[in-house]
Amino acid sequence: MNTLFVQHFGNDENRKLSYYTAQMMGYQAARRAILEMKPEQIIEDVKKSSIRGRGGAGFPTGMKWGFLPKESAKPKYLVCNADESEPGTFKDRDIIRYTPHLLIEGMIIGSYAIGCTHAYIYIRGEYTREAKILQEAIDEAYKNGFLGKGIFNSSFNLDVTLHRGAGAYICGEETALLNSLEGKRGEPRVKPPFPALVGAFSCPTAVNNVETIATVPHILNRGAEWYAKLGRIEKSGGTRLMSVSGHVKNPGVYEVEAGSITLRQLIEDHAGGCWKDKKIKAVIPGGSSAPVLTADEIDVVLDIEPFQKIGTMMGSGAVMVCDEDTDMVQLIWRITKFYAHESCGQCTPCREGCHWMEAILHRILHGAGAEKDLDMLLDIANNIGGKTLCALGDAAAGPVISFVKKFRTEFESYIRGQKKYA
Ligand SMILES: Cc1cc2nc3c(=O)[nH]c(=O)nc-3n(C[C@H](O)[C@H](O)[C@H](O)COP(=O)(O)O)c2cc1C
Repeated sequence: MNTLFVQHFGNDENRKLSYYTAQMMGYQAARRAILEMKPEQIIEDVKKSSIRGRGGAGFPTGMKWGFLPKESAKPKYLVCNADESEPGTFKDRDIIRYTPHLLIEGMIIGSYAIGCTHAYIYIRGEYTREAKILQEAIDEAYKNGFLGKGIFNSSFNLDVTLHRGAGAYICGEETALLNSLEGKRGEPRVKPPFPALVGAFSCPTAVNNVETIATVPHILNRGAEWYAKLGRIEKSGGTRLMSVSGHVKNPGVYEVEAGSITLRQLIEDHAGGCWKDKKIKAVIPGGSSAPVLTADEIDVVLDIEPFQKIGTMMGSGAVMVCDEDTDMVQLIWRITKFYAHESCGQCTPCREGCHWMEAILHRILHGAGAEKDLDMLLDIANNIGGKTLCALGDAAAGPVISFVKKFRTEFESYIRGQKKYA
């Protein structure tokens, strides 16, 4: 199986510029892009590679870059989303920890492609160690002429600013991120206009995930066709970094070619299978926002469309495994508490609904639930999904609906007093 990232993970020495240039063709793709390629050629290559955004929504990256106006009186911005706040996701952290120059090189290529001369990386507030690593790599890149004025003796200039968040999940949503970057409250914006036209500082902006941007040097080095062929499904190419956690023998970040294996194979062959020789009860397959799957649904091909077909999503590629003893009521209560806490409060359905769902789940768990509570939960969730400015509402509603539908008897056991919260 082809891998682009994971062979470089795990060794602190690999983050050095010397390793990057010797072992990873460091900055050769950026050099070639700036000195030999036209910006539109790069966008065309990224389109051909069929890479889709790795931040959760899976939007085609080349198309996103193509939406920015070619001519603009205003500056254009590339903003890297390193907020990585979706529970269960920790792949971007490894890219930053072990291959920070790969991300910087991707920023250079992306910025040149869209015509940006000042790019930003917005990093999760809790990632203090990673922020330090990344800043050191940025400083090293400046010192070696990869950032700053006249990169590779061309007329292309680029500054990269690292901006630290303050620990809010909502600031991973791209427009809340842009508000936060501008020093405003981290609240999602009304769309349209989309960031491609009105983004950072009201200027055309592309917002992309760390993994998406760090893949671009590989695409240029190995070729768009090569990359596209790694994916087994026509619409999405390349490899996927999967964060696997929960009740598995070997939690960690695994890299697989999109569509080449099933979710069960990822869990069993890569992550060692369910721990303590127990059986799997459920899997949350794409970060905590993804509707849950039962154990008999995990023979699904690991890619965006197959996941959608069975009513869930691949999201940010975070797989959380629950063994047979997992209390599903307790788990969904904990997840919902997170969303209720992280809702920015702007949209009434999300602000009120998340708290109601959390309160109902809390009372079910604590022995004060009623039979009608389950239908009420579904009703509230259905009145949040699709009715808010951003997808945090859907992220909170989808899991509740799937947990109630697939594990209803566990909720009923609490309601009927057959089970007590330990
Ligand atoms: C509530 C919420 C949280 C999000 N958190 C993240 C995040 O932490 N990192 C990320 O890359 N994208 C996150 N996203 C998705 C971004 O809005 C956006 O789609 C993404 O950064 C685009 O990059 P991509 O096209 O490379 O995937 C989040 C979306 C929502 C609705």
